[in-house]
Amino acid sequence: MKRSCYCGEPRESDTGKELILQGWIDTRRDHGGVIFLDLRDRTGIVQVVFDPDVAGAAHELAHGLRSEFVISVKGKLQPRSAETINPKLPTGHVELMVEELEVLNRAKPSPFAIDDEATVTENVRLTNRFLDLRRPMMQHNMRVRHDVCRIARDHFNANGFLEVETPMLTRSTPEGARDYLVPSRVNPGSFFALPQSPQLFKQLLMVSGFDRYYQIARCFRDEDLRADRQPEFTQIDLEMSFVDCEDIMGLVEQLLKDIFKEVLDVDFGDSFPRMTYAEAVSRYGSDRPDTRFAMELVDHTDLFAESGFKVFRGAVDSGGVVKTIVVKGGAEMSRKEIDDLTETAVELGAKGMAWIKVNAGGEWQSPIVKFFSDAERAGLTERAGLEDGDLVIFGADSEKGVHDVLGGLRTRIAAARGLIPEGRYDFLWVTDFPLVEYNEEDKRYYALHHPFTAPKVSDLEKLESDPAAVCADAYDIVMNGVELGGGSVRIHSDKVQSRVFKVLGIEEDEAREKFGFLLEALAYGAPPHAGLALGLDRLVAMLVGTDSIRDVIAFPKTQRAGCLLTDAPAQVDAVQLRGLGIKVDV
Ligand code: AMO
Ligand code: AMP
Repeated sequence: MKRSCYCGEPRESDTGKELILQGWIDTRRDHGGVIFLDLRDRTGIVQVVFDPDVAGAAHELAHGLRSEFVISVKGKLQPRSAETINPKLPTGHVELMVEELEVLNRAKPSPFAIDDEATVTENVRLTNRFLDLRRPMMQHNMRVRHDVCRIARDHFNANGFLEVETPMLTRSTPEGARDYLVPSRVNPGSFFALPQSPQLFKQLLMVSGFDRYYQIARCFRDEDLRADRQPEFTQIDLEMSFVDCEDIMGLVEQLLKDIFKEVLDVDFGDSFPRMTYAEAVSRYGSDRPDTRFAMELVDHTDLFAESGFKVFRGAVDSGGVVKTIVVKGGAEMSRKEIDDLTETAVELGAKGMAWIKVNAGGEWQSPIVKFFSDAERAGLTERAGLEDGDLVIFGADSEKGVHDVLGGLRTRIAAARGLIPEGRYDFLWVTDFPLVEYNEEDKRYYALHHPFTAPKVSDLEKLESDPAAVCADAYDIVMNGVELGGGSVRIHSDKVQSRVFKVLGIEEDEAREKFGFLLEALAYGAPPHAGLALGLDRLVAMLVGTDSIRDVIAFPKTQRAGCLLTDAPAQVDAVQLRGLGIKVDV
């Protein structure tokens, strides 16, 4: 029997046709003599009927069928009687009246029902991923992922880009995470690193004159995992020569608009809004702000510079800030809820969480207002726009400390109190990142993006004298508080690259050792170039509305960076290790 169409395809206009359908048994209902099956494949479900008078031997055989058996059925498509029409199914007006049945394969009972409602732990899903992927939701997610890749390829191809593969077995590419290493058998004691991104190779391709490169590239980063981080993930990666940041942002913006239009039918008329890094952290306490709701941070540092409340005064005296967020209607929160918030604040790095409830009639309830002067009360009321029913939350600490705490509380409170509008997609370009960030513990500067990002030309003179004040030609694309992608204009002068390495504490010998090939390439006529990489997994997760990128990756890793399906990573033979010159000591 050769399949005539997919299960999701038969329509009323096909009634009377002789069809052969093949697929998995979704459900089975025995109605006295007549047996009904829902037959499923990747396109959907269709009802097939075994009537003893029509099906004969096939009807006998059908008694032995179970869920997830793979079958082939031949019969005539007929309209369903009015009372049995299922308007929820595209095939709901028809059914196949079976004449012949062939069982193509049997199946063990599935550990969970193959439907989207099944409540089953993620561990069970991941251990049986081949079954989990049969669920309509996973089939949909993988299809959207495919569509995004297809739209991206079309977009790049139409704009003159070349798809080039870069190596998986390579040297460390610093993107700020630990490397996955692969031992070399041929060179005992030496290791390849899996790429954290194609960054260096795409820059070399620009030096080679390819001008416009893209790749749907696998990246590997050994870092602490969260719902939006996997050790192995995919980037939509691009690089262009003879362009500035506007060209990159314009091209990526059009790509994202095309994707959202085709997948979700969402239009973004104008250009995406933009915000500098400084404004984003100041107003939202984050460089990837969720702009779907307000609750912005308000600065009161000057107001409390001479405060009688020692926590605020002390923060200002030591060069820090005092800021607030206001939770509308938050005065109704119980003591327990406020204690829980305080605990969260402490987890986010706060030393405490001062608060004020503005009760009916403007009465303030708070452990700390007794320390406030009239001017402080009036100033706070005006600047924070206080109204009855508000809860005011304070952060008093270093600027970074306050931003981390209030920024973190802001998103958690908004989610918990349902302040985030559904179905909204707020794109935002964040620009003008600092080039470097000082790390107090290591007493050195780190690149905020990566070490190949260009300083703004106007800031080059400050590179050695005041590195922290240097702005980078870098930009991130953010949506609903998620960093979807990031990129920058690159350094194309070997001199400037050497200066930046020096600021980052990478001495000349080390730079030659690790990045000699890059410095060398830059010395042979490197064109000005710039690029960006989108996180494909995060983008698809956004499009299908899931918080976890594991739901959009066919075979993801767990939080413990393992694969439950294959049981990787695993120990290997002593012989294999000996061949690699490796002795394990754990
Ligand atoms: P960056 O490190 O910002 O830039 O990475 C680009 C995008 O990749 C996604 N991403 C991840 N997704 C899932 N799991 C992870 N562990 C993970 N890490 C990053 C994010 C992020 O915005 N070479 C530069 C790009 C460039 O400058 O062109 C780079 O890799 O969505
Ligand atoms: P204390 O004087 O330490 O008892 O703190 C008085 C109030 O200020 C308490 O409600 C603390 O939670 C709060 N508080 C302490 N440190 C900070 C801080 N750095 N930022 C905001 N509130 C704080």
